[in-house]
Amino acid sequence: MLHFQRRQLAGLRGILTGGSSGVGRAVAIALAEAGVDLVITGRREQRLLAVAEAAAEAPGRLLPLAGDITAADFRRRLVEHATAELGGLDLVVAAAGSGAIGPFVQASPKVLREIFDVDFFAPAELVRLSLPLLAAGRTPAVVLVGSILGLHPLPLHAEYSAAKAALHGLATALRPELADEGIGLLLAVLGPTESEFWDNLLTGQRPGWSQGRPLSAEATASAIVRALGAGRQTVHPGWRAKAFAGLARFCPAVIDWTIRRKRQAPRRS
Ligand SMILES: NC(=O)c1ccc[n+]([C@@H]2O[C@H](COP(=O)([O-])OP(=O)(O)OC[C@H]3O[C@@H](n4cnc5c(N)ncnc54)[C@H](OP(=O)(O)O)[C@@H]3O)[C@@H](O)[C@H]2O)c1
Repeated sequence: MLHFQRRQLAGLRGILTGGSSGVGRAVAIALAEAGVDLVITGRREQRLLAVAEAAAEAPGRLLPLAGDITAADFRRRLVEHATAELGGLDLVVAAAGSGAIGPFVQASPKVLREIFDVDFFAPAELVRLSLPLLAAGRTPAVVLVGSILGLHPLPLHAEYSAAKAALHGLATALRPELADEGIGLLLAVLGPTESEFWDNLLTGQRPGWSQGRPLSAEATASAIVRALGAGRQTVHPGWRAKAFAGLARFCPAVIDWTIRRKRQAPRRS
């Protein structure tokens, strides 16, 4: 049976990756304000401490633990730490991500591996590691942060699109398996969002299509947290993500045509 259970967020205990900036930071603060206790993670410890400080008055606690989510040892330590500090696990929110732009032929196997490590293998293995604990949790759920490029991959975004498409595939395959254990799975499909994502690209520069007026990280977070509380399976924060998802499903040729017109091939740097 698939899981549509509404969820009372106050009192839940979780892990959140990507908590040091952008969407992860905003979701962490929104969840703390909803009364969730979270271990937040990212590599930049000072940033995590600042996020915890920003939510100091919230009913939920944010407990920073810095580390590289692509390292299996760190993922184990993260889950053990959360269990020891929080006494169990009800939520895993995988928001960490990184991207690269440019012609695939100019990139290296290293970039492809790095993107897949952060955007696919790390969340997949963190979920696998957490499942026994989640199965014993209260209204448990996994939140995976995907992208509109996981719905309809774009040229010059090959590694990132492929990793997000893999994450979306994992979400679809896992959802019924997790439902058997009473665990919900929410896939957040993001369009252009204000964050540090484009400053931290492994290669290339921000493309024109992502500019304009991206959705704020806070509006994105509030849509994700509402969808989590409502027990939904997917959320597309903002009209751009919704419109792109509609086109990707019913009229993908329009996306391809628009991209062909706008495309200027940036060199990798
Ligand atoms: N911004 C957009 O337009 C957009 C669109 C679609 C989807 N998304 C997705 O939204 C999610 C959040 O990204 P964002 O936009 O908020 O970008 P961001 O501000 O750059 O945040 C990325 C987060 O991931 C963490 N991270 C990256 N590599 C890591 C590693 N190896 N180990 C641990 N943490 C790591 C970063 O922390 P540290 O640097 O401290 O390690 C940071 O907290 C990502 O999954 C991204 O793919 C973003």
